[in-house]
Amino acid sequence: MREESLLNPAIESEDELSLRPKRLDDFVGQDRVKERLRISIEAAAEEQRALDHVIFSGPPGLGKTTLANVIANELGVAIRVTSGPALERPGDLAAILSNLQPGDIFFIDEIHRLPRAVEEVLYPAMEDFKLDIVLGKGPTAQSIRLDLPRFTLVGATTRKGKVTAPLRDRFGIEEKLDYYQDHELADIVVRSASIIGVEIGRPAAEVLARRSRSTPRIANRLLARVRDYAVARADGDLNEEIAAAALDVFEVDPLGLDKVDRSILEALVLKFGGGPVGLSTLAIAVGEEPETVEDAYEPFLLQIGMINRTPRGRVATVHAYSHLGVEAPANTQTSLLD
Ligand SMILES: Nc1ncnc2c1ncn2[C@@H]1O[C@H](COP(=O)(O)OP(=O)(O)OP(=O)(O)O)[C@@H](O)[C@H]1O
Ligand SMILES: [Mg+2]
Repeated sequence: MREESLLNPAIESEDELSLRPKRLDDFVGQDRVKERLRISIEAAAEEQRALDHVIFSGPPGLGKTTLANVIANELGVAIRVTSGPALERPGDLAAILSNLQPGDIFFIDEIHRLPRAVEEVLYPAMEDFKLDIVLGKGPTAQSIRLDLPRFTLVGATTRKGKVTAPLRDRFGIEEKLDYYQDHELADIVVRSASIIGVEIGRPAAEVLARRSRSTPRIANRLLARVRDYAVARADGDLNEEIAAAALDVFEVDPLGLDKVDRSILEALVLKFGGGPVGLSTLAIAVGEEPETVEDAYEPFLLQIGMINRTPRGRVATVHAYSHLGVEAPANTQTSLLD
């Protein structure tokens, strides 16, 4: 079995449940998003109506699922959770929708992966709170329209570009989550540490923050590994040096890049002469699925200016060369962010 990467932000763990903030006030960062949500939530509560449909987009591990749950808690309503691929037939959708109470949250994760036929039933459900169902087959088939309670659909996607335009248009509230600042990640580490009963000072929390690829899920995961190290090798003491030593053991470098990130950069620079190289070729070279490279690794490497995406494929930037300690050829691109 392939070793699971410590830093793959797309892999969820069981422990995450307890670390999830329950209310907007506990949710660190994303201040503008929180402010807008707070306004819409207050207005809906004030007028005693369902909140408009909400879609969250952004890379894995930034808090989309967490926010869906936070909204339900803030509104004091129930949340039904499913995912695009789990809704195989229109009947699966109908079963859930017809059991909602007014105001409930219906959360669809990976909404870009909804089957077409299901998506079409969802349109009138979102817009008019009507459910069209077909009874029987062939010439005697009958279509009936059922009234649904006014619910709020919350969708989440790591691939906004893959959500069809008609579906996107039906969301009143569209929010994109961005990568976190280091001081916010340090806040998250301190908060999580107190929940799992670990004592950690601010400087050590900042070491973890700097290496967590701007992603809360990774910050929490590094905290768990560093705690293990502290218990097993340092009598439970969790200071800056211990944190840094632990992260070295787990092969998380000072930029927060892990083995997979480095092998992507190494393949680009050493095997493909800096690129351009296509996604699937690159994925094969590092032994990962193309989707994993594209969803879980590439966004952060783009974000820190290590690679560029060009029409002809991925290219390594001068930052990638210098990070690997390899001299860059004269024509190497700088980061598009520079
Ligand atoms: N703003 C935040 N403050 C505190 N903790 C956070 C925040 N955002 C995320 N987390 C933590 O990170 C973990 C991952 O968040 P979440 O599962 O909501 O990400 P996601 O965007 O839904 O990811 P995916 O795309 O993989 O589904 C949560 O368990 C939560 O503990
Ligand atoms: Mg999620």
